[in-house]
Amino acid sequence: MMAAASRQGTSGPAIPTRIPAVFPASWRFPAGSHGTFAQHGMVASDNVLAAQAGVEVMKQGGNAVDAAVATGFALAVAYPEAGNLGGGGYMVIRMADGRSAAIDYREAAPLAATRDMYVAPDGKLTGESVIGPKASGVPGSVAGMLEAHRKFGKLPIAKVLAPALRLASDGLVVDSAMYRSLRGENSRIGISAGKDLFLPDGSPPAIGSRLVQPQLAHTIKLIADSGARAFYRGSIADSIAAQMKRIGGLITKADLARYQPEWRTPIRSSFRGYSFIAMPPSSSGGTTVTEILNILEAYGSPAQFGTAAEVHAVASASQRAFVDRNSKLGDPAFVKVPLSTLTSKTYARSLARAISRDRADPTSSLGGSLREGSQTTHYSVVDQFGNAVATTTTLNDLYGSGIYISGAGFFMNDEMDDFTSKVGVPNMFGLIQGEANAIAPGKRMLSAMSPTIVLDPSGGLLLVTGARGGPRIISATSQIILNVIDHRMSLGDAVSAPRIHHQSLPDSIRVERGGLAPGVLEALRAMGHGIIEGGGVASSASIMRVRGGYEGMGDPRTAGGGAAGF
Ligand code: DON
Repeated sequence: MMAAASRQGTSGPAIPTRIPAVFPASWRFPAGSHGTFAQHGMVASDNVLAAQAGVEVMKQGGNAVDAAVATGFALAVAYPEAGNLGGGGYMVIRMADGRSAAIDYREAAPLAATRDMYVAPDGKLTGESVIGPKASGVPGSVAGMLEAHRKFGKLPIAKVLAPALRLASDGLVVDSAMYRSLRGENSRIGISAGKDLFLPDGSPPAIGSRLVQPQLAHTIKLIADSGARAFYRGSIADSIAAQMKRIGGLITKADLARYQPEWRTPIRSSFRGYSFIAMPPSSSGGTTVTEILNILEAYGSPAQFGTAAEVHAVASASQRAFVDRNSKLGDPAFVKVPLSTLTSKTYARSLARAISRDRADPTSSLGGSLREGSQTTHYSVVDQFGNAVATTTTLNDLYGSGIYISGAGFFMNDEMDDFTSKVGVPNMFGLIQGEANAIAPGKRMLSAMSPTIVLDPSGGLLLVTGARGGPRIISATSQIILNVIDHRMSLGDAVSAPRIHHQSLPDSIRVERGGLAPGVLEALRAMGHGIIEGGGVASSASIMRVRGGYEGMGDPRTAGGGAAGF
């Protein structure tokens, strides 16, 4: 303990005492739960095998970026519903020496994409943005992870990819979470070659059986030997382009050859004396989380957790930040994004001043009326050197577009649905978005992914967080940060606590069923808030510094998640 406490990663000022959380009697998770403790390094993920892959490379001397890449590739094997080689993502890095970085490996629209490609002659949407060959953007995950490794990794790439390669070639045991996930999505998986592996005889492999993925093992081996080139210009590119041509997809070898991940300047902001590092566009995540936190800081001291006053403040801040998100953000290579305004404290003060203490404002009065005009995975890593990485990666839907690349062994994304297919028409997440996020060749579709690293007031690492869950990612991420800073919750309580979500349209607060006491719901309705009760608001995998080490946990909302450490 003493030795660990003197390391960079676990040193820093004493963490303020945590205050036990109180949840409503109707809430499905108890207060007082805690995650996994580790002294030196840790990975929290929706899949524990993938977390263990990251820990394995850290134990060999690898750093947090090596571990993040190892975890990312292992997720592609062990968690095919969201882990991927055929999707994209974002990684926020904070090195112990103070450097921070953000890499954007979001998918890009193929060159043959057009603005109205999903609008049928009758003006309705065709649905081709969510399933089948036309739904995919050009994948970024392999390029992004290898570039992060090139710049920050310590171990050779073959060592980093070894655990994923082993999981693919030796196989993994199908657990009930994987079985249920495959069974639930059998119609999507059934549209292409993935069904031979994942639905032999029409149903998933039996729980307890061993799932070996030789094609994927071959692909990972090619990447270990020849780098991202194998994927973007070599035989994997040939397999993707040939299949796309055969089935009517748009992605060509030219699309793959021109794909580049982008290093971005991370958003650096602060909240009540704590600072944080977040993802700038092409994700809306960091911008919107920052705007929400800035509005709440300007609004005043936090009310007690779970009260009508507190929910009203968080919902009203989120509503305003989402109005900006949905209308102003898009790929910065294509649209002028007013990033410094949206993340400025002055702007947030003007928005906060206009929030009434006891009355909801309709979204239409906030300029959010564009009507005129599930599956992702987040993981958090800390290493024994004090470095930290927050990564979110996605295929969009579970198993993406359902298109599985024959011979190469992975699913393609259906990320094109994150674009504005038609102004004023909701996408699969009910998001009503504007012109800034319209489809254009080579453009990146706006994301909500929000990998975030929070530092304590003296600059020491405090929290690595982020989530899956479409636009609700932004709510989960900002509310976990609020729970830790404003409500002084332990990580277990901060993640288990009921969440709310307001994305401006629909103009209502979405509350997790049982998460608010009946009297609080009544008070919110009396203020004029619409209430939609629903299932979980996103799912997180987070790590927090605690005395003598780290606590890490998956989200109780997701089966099979957790943390591994050493
Ligand atoms: O990038 C985005 O915002 C979405 N494609 C994320 C999708 C997602 O989180 C689905 N997961 N549960």
